[in-house]
Amino acid sequence: MGRLDGKKAFITGAAQGLGACFARMFAEEGALVALTDVQGDKVAETAEAINKDFPGAAFAFEHDVTDHDQWKSVLAEANEAMRGISVLVNNAGIGTMANIEAETWEGYRKVMDIDLDSIFIGTQAALPYLKKNSPASIINISSVAGLMADANLLSYNVAKAGVAMMSKSVALHCAKAGYEIICNSVHPVFTRTPMIDPIVQMGGGGEEGEAKLSRGIPMKRLGEPEEVGHMVVYLASDEAKFVTGSEFRIDGGMTAGRVGK
Ligand SMILES: NC(=O)c1ccc[n+]([C@@H]2O[C@H](COP(=O)([O-])OP(=O)(O)OC[C@H]3O[C@@H](n4cnc5c(N)ncnc54)[C@H](O)[C@@H]3O)[C@@H](O)[C@H]2O)c1
Repeated sequence: MGRLDGKKAFITGAAQGLGACFARMFAEEGALVALTDVQGDKVAETAEAINKDFPGAAFAFEHDVTDHDQWKSVLAEANEAMRGISVLVNNAGIGTMANIEAETWEGYRKVMDIDLDSIFIGTQAALPYLKKNSPASIINISSVAGLMADANLLSYNVAKAGVAMMSKSVALHCAKAGYEIICNSVHPVFTRTPMIDPIVQMGGGGEEGEAKLSRGIPMKRLGEPEEVGHMVVYLASDEAKFVTGSEFRIDGGMTAGRVGK
């Protein structure tokens, strides 16, 4: 018996990094998974690798999360392939570093489009499927940067804070409407995926770069994708069916406060 037997999950940004890890962990727990990503070839390879170990579990779709029409068509195709959609993981995202003086309007808009507005479009488009396949779960990948600000993360801070608040509003709407649909946000600290490679390089690369990046984390190391995945598997499962509108931190103590010297 898998913890996600019978679940049908739609995961954005699943070609690599956290999304690819979630997809594999979901398949291990018995779910069917639709992996979507703007990198069409790469997401197909990731799904193929999952199908080698869990035949028939994974389906791949090329999908730009900023495109309204693509959300509609890809959700319909995934629904057809899996015979339903009961879990939506809004994971696709980009990171940028800029302060209020350096950021451009175009840069700011791009982060809002991909990291925040896509979740509005996708959640609205997916709700009819989730309602038909409840108990259902919406899991929005925010960041510790959605809870604490950094001088150099202006756009990312704003987008990821918006993700947390959107999750709460969606959760309350679903509860009020009597839908059996939970909605929560997940807040990882720096986690070892391709997204953080450029920051590790900036710090000198390898162990040295990772150590610099980990300095502000009380547990003094980066997160592993599976450590975020365990939380996401829980939130996708019926174990979490009374858990909604909450923020889940996987951050080695980062948002708890300071450890001092
Ligand atoms: N890795 C970290 O340290 C960390 C920490 C906190 C939060 N996060 C968040 O976790 C999520 C996943 O990040 P990751 O670390 O796996 O990064 P990643 O860069 O490895 O993967 C992100 C994926 O999103 C896809 N993507 C980007 N733009 C897209 C678009 N317009 N449409 C569809 N797909 C698109 C990319 O192609 C890529 O496959 C992001 O939302 C990120 O902000 C990551």
